[in-house]
Parts: sequence; structure tokens; C-alpha cells
Amino acid sequence: MNNNDRYIHLIDLNDHPVSWWKQLLELAHEIRQAPQDYADACKGKIMGTLFYEPSTRTQMSFQTAMLRLGGTIIGFDNPATSSVAKGENIKDTTKIVSGYADIMVMRHPTAGSVKAAALTADCPVINAGDGGHLHPTQTLTDLMTLYEEKHTLENLTIGLCGDLKNGRTVHSLIKAMSCFNGTRFVLISTKELSLPAYMKDILAASGHAYKEVTNLDDAIGELDVLYMTRIQRERFASEEDYQQQKGFYILDRKKMAKARRDMIVLHPLPRVDEIAVEVDDDPRAKYFDQARYGMYIRMALILTILHNNGRPAPLVTGRIVPKAACSNPGCITNHELYLPRYFKGSGDTVICEYCDERTLL
Ligand code: NCD
Repeated sequence: MNNNDRYIHLIDLNDHPVSWWKQLLELAHEIRQAPQDYADACKGKIMGTLFYEPSTRTQMSFQTAMLRLGGTIIGFDNPATSSVAKGENIKDTTKIVSGYADIMVMRHPTAGSVKAAALTADCPVINAGDGGHLHPTQTLTDLMTLYEEKHTLENLTIGLCGDLKNGRTVHSLIKAMSCFNGTRFVLISTKELSLPAYMKDILAASGHAYKEVTNLDDAIGELDVLYMTRIQRERFASEEDYQQQKGFYILDRKKMAKARRDMIVLHPLPRVDEIAVEVDDDPRAKYFDQARYGMYIRMALILTILHNNGRPAPLVTGRIVPKAACSNPGCITNHELYLPRYFKGSGDTVICEYCDERTLL
């Protein structure tokens, strides 16, 4: 057992049982009904927010959530003004902040970085987005939106459209929705931005039906939920590659006319041009409500973790393979070289514990 398995961290939602997610959804629902009842629930507690990447909603909703629970916040949103600019590694920065705070929320551009921080942090750690890998609290936000708006998490046909390759919200949501009966996935993207192989492995293993299409017009009519995403410019190798992909999918009134009357449109936001502003007035557009649900579910999450409500999940279940290097150049283990190389599985092909990529030994 890793020493840090004593905390309830949230690195990947799937580390925790679905019953725990449902507990969070119910608590968030209650908080939304009567927020005043929770105004002092985290009095005296401090949350550290470490944002190495830009954020509006995630950072502010976490901060607001903590303030609405009566707690306080410390942190940075511009690593250039912290000791990171002097070359401090993740381990040292997060070790120090976790000694000051009771709970830490972290966003970083590198896959696996938040798990790396949690390995040595002195408080619970929440993943607010690690590169193109995962974004579990956006998924909790998405689940709350589905729960409140569709009143079920089962038997939904969900279309995910846009940057399925680099979109961490997509990856987390697919992993989560794979845990519910009857989910059908329609993956709508160009060939270049299709779902990564490791995610397809997860989908295939879950046994859920999925299909890949390029045309949004053809697919929209069969959906209960359309999850639009931004083309993740910052994750492209070159501006030229980005320019070739941008603007391919634009949801407008004409396309909405082909959708079912009870379909809902979600988007983690920020949007660039993938949803025309004219769609905002359509009652099926739920993305602004979604951002608000995000605050309540984060209140529920902070409260649950600080009150130690749930079972800590082991951070790593695999073994250290000292000489192996993860095949993903974007993995944190290829940037912060002191990290122990943890891999799951046996045989020649193993799975990196930090970024989930397959590696050939
Ligand atoms: C998303 C993210 O950061 O991954 N935004 C968010 O947290 N609401 C989506 C995006 O940036 O496109």
C-alpha cells in the first residue's frame, strides 16, 4: 500500500464505486435545494488551487464552492508568478502546498501529473484536468446535468462531437458512462481527431455499443444527449494542424431542427465556434445550466472528501518497472524523471499507471 492511500483523492472517477458518485449527486441535489444549510460546513478549512493551465469555470466553481461552504482558499493560477518559474518540480510544489491546505485541487498540462502529485501530497488531491487525459470533476458536472435534466443515467444514447482525441472531458465522460446500463455512444469526429486507442480498449472492454461517424447531421436525430467539444488548439503539434481541423463541426439552428425535441446539448465550455450563439435560446441548450451544476457538485465533493465520507482508493495497483519508459511522450513520467515507473498488467504490453497508455516492455 502506498502511504498516501489514506486520503480520498479524486484522480479518476472510475477509481471509486458508482454508489459513491450517486451519493455525490444526491448531496449536490440537496445542497442546490438549500445552500444556506451548508454555509458553515467547511468552516476553518483551506483549499489550495494549483492551476498550471488556464481555467475559468473549473477554478472559479471550485473556489466559489469552498467559499459557499464557509472555507477559504489559497493558490495560484499563473505558475509564472510562483516558484514553478524557478524550475521547481511538481513534487516539491505540491508537497509544500499540501502542507498548508486541507484539500488541494490541481490542473496541469501533462497527463498523469495530478496522480504524481497525490503520491506524495499531505492532503487529499483532486484532479481538475491533467493534459488531454482526464477531467473527473467535469464528468461529475456532466453526470449531475444528466441526472437533473434527464432524470436518469441509464439507457441514454450520447453523441460526443469534436476533438475526441485530445478532449479530456470526453475521455472521463466515456469512462463514467460505460458504467451505466444501456449507454450507446456515437463518436462524431474527423479521422484525425478520433478517440485514442487506449480509450477504445476501455470502451470495448465495457461491452457497450459504440459507432464512429464523421457527419453530425446524420447522427443528431438518434441522440438523447449531444456533447459538443472545443477543438483543443493547445494540444496540437502545430498551428497548421489545428487550422485544418477547426470549424469542421458547427451546431446551428438548422442542425438542431433535425434533433429530437427532448435531446439536450451539453458542452464543458469554453466554446469557440462549435455552437452558434443562436442555439443558446433553444430550450434544449443546457450548457450554461451545466456550468452552474458544476458548482453544486464541487460543493458536494469538497464536503464529502473533507468529512472523509467514502473509502480511499489505492493510487496505484501495479508494480514498479524501473527501466521501462512510458510510450506516451506526453506522460508526466517522461518529464519528471524521479517518478517511480508504475505499470499495470503482466506480459509484454503493460498499462502506464499515470496516463493509461499501453507500453511495450
Ligand atoms: C474543459 C477543459 O479544461 O478540459 N473546460 C472545462 O474545464 N470546463 C474543456 C475545454 O477546455 O475545452
